[in-house]
Amino acid sequence: MTAAPATAHVTLRPMAADDCEMVFTWRNRPEIVRLSSSGRPVDWEDHLSWFRRRAADGTQPMFVIEAAGWPAGQLRFDAEADRAYRVTIYLVAESTGRGIGVAALRAGCGRLLAEGRADTFTACVQAGNLPSRKAFARAGFRDTEPPAPCPGGHVRMVLTAGGAHA
Ligand SMILES: CC(C)(COP(=O)(O)OP(=O)(O)OC[C@H]1O[C@@H](n2cnc3c(N)ncnc32)[C@H](O)[C@@H]1OP(=O)(O)O)[C@@H](O)C(=O)NCCC(=O)NCCS
Repeated sequence: MTAAPATAHVTLRPMAADDCEMVFTWRNRPEIVRLSSSGRPVDWEDHLSWFRRRAADGTQPMFVIEAAGWPAGQLRFDAEADRAYRVTIYLVAESTGRGIGVAALRAGCGRLLAEGRADTFTACVQAGNLPSRKAFARAGFRDTEPPAPCPGGHVRMVLTAGGAHA
């Protein structure tokens, strides 16, 4: 069960090997597939090899977002360049609309900034995904030009250290 209570306290738990199946199930939920960059589900073998490789990579943090102790979604930081990360986030549908995503973005980016591991965060958001654009904006991200390196139809949003947006 993945529903979180309405008054949620958000924590980030580093992804563990045991989370592999839960994340596979989340990733292939229709609402997540629809909003993903590829727009396609993943198969188990591909997921397994990706997850094993990715979870073991200490340089690229990946978290389970927990709200009041319930697993609510995933927050991932993929290295793009020196001290620059691409941010990916999704919540299961039952946990959306309560500020959990914004709190997770603030906590995750804040943690990497405080640890001195990052100074720039980028997100590629489907132009029509207004809930996500609002959430990233509330977490301090801003739309940027030019749109590259995001796929067509996506908006590139950036957060930099000190709130100086690239
Ligand atoms: C995008 C996401 C991380 C935002 O986190 P969140 O905790 O839901 O963010 P908020 O609660 O601050 O909601 C942001 C806005 O989106 C709206 N919203 C959130 N979920 C919604 C939903 N399922 N349907 C319609 N609107 C929704 C909220 O009402 C709010 O708008 P408002 O200020 O006009 O009321 C989360 O909604 C999510 O994971 N969605 C599905 C996957 C996704 O889009 N991932 C991002 C891909 S780039």
